[in-house]
Amino acid sequence: MTRAVVRYGRDVAAPTPDVDMSTSLSTFEMPSPILTASGCAASGRELDQFFDITKLGAIVTKSIMLEPRSGRATPRIAETPSGMLNSIGLQGPGVASFIENDLAWLRERGARVIVSIAGGSTQEFEDIAKILRLQEGIDAIEVNISCPNVADRGQVFACRADSAAGVVASVRRSSDPSIPVFAKLSPDVTDLATIALACERAGADGLTLINTTLGMVIDTDSMRPALAGITGGLSGPAIRPIAVRCIWQVREVLPDIPILGVGGVASGKDALELILAGANAVSVGTSVFRDPSAPMRVHEDLAVALAERGFARLSDAVSFAHREPEIDEDSIDDLDVPEWT
Ligand SMILES: Cc1cc2nc3c(=O)[nH]c(=O)nc-3n(C[C@H](O)[C@H](O)[C@H](O)COP(=O)(O)O)c2cc1C
Repeated sequence: MTRAVVRYGRDVAAPTPDVDMSTSLSTFEMPSPILTASGCAASGRELDQFFDITKLGAIVTKSIMLEPRSGRATPRIAETPSGMLNSIGLQGPGVASFIENDLAWLRERGARVIVSIAGGSTQEFEDIAKILRLQEGIDAIEVNISCPNVADRGQVFACRADSAAGVVASVRRSSDPSIPVFAKLSPDVTDLATIALACERAGADGLTLINTTLGMVIDTDSMRPALAGITGGLSGPAIRPIAVRCIWQVREVLPDIPILGVGGVASGKDALELILAGANAVSVGTSVFRDPSAPMRVHEDLAVALAERGFARLSDAVSFAHREPEIDEDSIDDLDVPEWT
């Protein structure tokens, strides 16, 4: 296959700095910390025309459900300041077609693969996990629990600790024990730490933080909601501070859990921000709609940003922002302390 020659961001002739970019998500080891984000790059086929997708940490595939699904009515996308709103509604071909077409292609292409799964009930998640267990070429499973629980008045699984933990326990039990299971959490909760802890206790090998946050746009000409589904998930640079906050909060309560950070990453410095907050790897989502080579560009720019800050290894930067501030003893001695103290 001929590959398009793409110049991304920095001068392609410039050597990549000598930084060890390898990382791991639980037992899954990757040469790069940059992945795609579920739903933003399908199974990576289109991106492969712009850069070699096998160089990425992994392709995170669009959330797959048991049966084919046409998703929500259109319009399903609206532009917002520094982001976008989507209400795709988990459109997809169903797990059988996914295995036959997308997974087979990814396997043949030699890409590392994280398969994202979604369901309307705990049973549906379990059924998909059992089907995927029989497949080769899957490096990890991401459980998208940001979908409505049909049996519980459409309440999103990820919004309650018990329903989130129920899905995670069931997928963990039904999956190949050698493959890590990641739970993808929603930022739309009051106490994210409690939900993260519940997922970890239920057997999650790691967490993906974050899914989109619920938003709404009203078209001021038609004076009606811009999306047919009324509300939608907000993504893009607008949500990066929320992602950083969520990663930080979870890292504070779970110092060792592997975290895949996602939310508004468009540059190497953006990725670095999530890593300093506690992410072991970073998914690039909405940015690929504007720049299909974004994941590779982010990888290269992140290597430069790490080298500029004196890091020889990416892993040394993970959670770096949590360290205690250094106190310069000399400057304390030099302080001009008033006598009355
Ligand atoms: C069009 C679109 C479709 C998405 N579909 C999924 C999906 O199927 N499963 C999922 O877990 N997340 C899905 N997401 C959420 C992204 O994976 C990601 O968590 C979110 O967009 C934040 O990252 P970003 O700001 O880099 O896009 C989707 C996002 C967009 C924009």
